[in-house]
Amino acid sequence: MGHPLSGVAPTINWSALGNVIVVANWKGGVGKTATAVNLAARQASKAAVDDDAVGTDRGRPKRVLLVDLNGQGTASLLLGIKGKAGVDDDGLGLFQAIVTHTDLKPARSVGGRADLDLLPGGTYVSMITDAIGSRMKSAGGAASVILSLAERLQHLAPNYDVVIIDTPPENETLLLIALGVARFVLVPIKTDDSTRLGLLQLASYIRVAMEHNPFIMLLGVFVFGSGHSSKAIRAEIGRDVARDLGDATLVLKSFIRFSEGVAADSSRYGRVAEELSREIENNPSWVKRRRGEAKDSIVVSGASKGVAEDYDGLGDEVFALAEKKRAELVEKGLWP
Ligand SMILES: Nc1ncnc2c1ncn2[C@@H]1O[C@H](COP(=O)(O)OP(=O)(O)OP(=O)(O)O)[C@@H](O)[C@H]1O
Ligand SMILES: [Mg+2]
Repeated sequence: MGHPLSGVAPTINWSALGNVIVVANWKGGVGKTATAVNLAARQASKAAVDDDAVGTDRGRPKRVLLVDLNGQGTASLLLGIKGKAGVDDDGLGLFQAIVTHTDLKPARSVGGRADLDLLPGGTYVSMITDAIGSRMKSAGGAASVILSLAERLQHLAPNYDVVIIDTPPENETLLLIALGVARFVLVPIKTDDSTRLGLLQLASYIRVAMEHNPFIMLLGVFVFGSGHSSKAIRAEIGRDVARDLGDATLVLKSFIRFSEGVAADSSRYGRVAEELSREIENNPSWVKRRRGEAKDSIVVSGASKGVAEDYDGLGDEVFALAEKKRAELVEKGLWP
């Protein structure tokens, strides 16, 4: 019982979901997927480093789960496993788990990344709204829909160090399903006013989700895809967001710089910025390229190094802030 088709609200063990970060903004094209994928791969690669510290506190295996709650399956594309048999299920697993309560079975170690697991998105995820969206209209139905993924993930999340959920733009049902699991919400914005509006719309959905998920909190807002030298513009949007939210501590210091080259390479090669940056030294020389001897080689944008550094800085800030908020709530006895 407790799945959306039963219309009965499930019981959630909130202490099992303290590591869930949802990346969201009502608006499209603001960097949600790029952020979710890059942060997930970053944390997983840190876990690999820590695995060397066997016998120490850091020696326990840490894994990362990325959940792609999108109809396009862009996370699979950016991780290089789009359409790969046995790995990319086009969102079927998520559809069945959310709609009919089957067990979630993530693809393990996706794209050769030892500590990164993925619940792929895709065509089936876009059918979730049609399958259960109408149940949102009754009070009991809304709870069973909004908590549908929380009910499934509560059994899985404790196996992971962090669970990152990517959300689609302008889809009320899927957004609320993600917010129903979220402990922390991370929001990319661009330096234009329409994505700031998207943040305010998101805030109203967070209030709806809060009726069912009492532990959800906004973690921070950061600027995505901004010119490296556009400091004044970022400062201004930061002030606007602080005023909108009535809390300057929600505006993160980190930002992700603009790079069309890295965006193109990420989807072409299925690698995150940090993985691309490791390929820079293998780029064929200009001489080889001029002679036409490099046709089959990978040639990556040199900008991936800077973008990778930006994601690393964002990751540091995000995970430190989450830990700080957790510690404060534990101290007050308000952490489940
Ligand atoms: N560092 C970057 N600089 C500029 N553009 C980027 C960068 N990284 C990714 N992009 C591009 O920006 C666009 C939006 O990024 P992304 O897909 O992550 O946003 P999104 O919020 O997930 O979009 P949607 O709402 O459609 O799911 C994409 O075309 C992507 O290739
Ligand atoms: Mg996206």
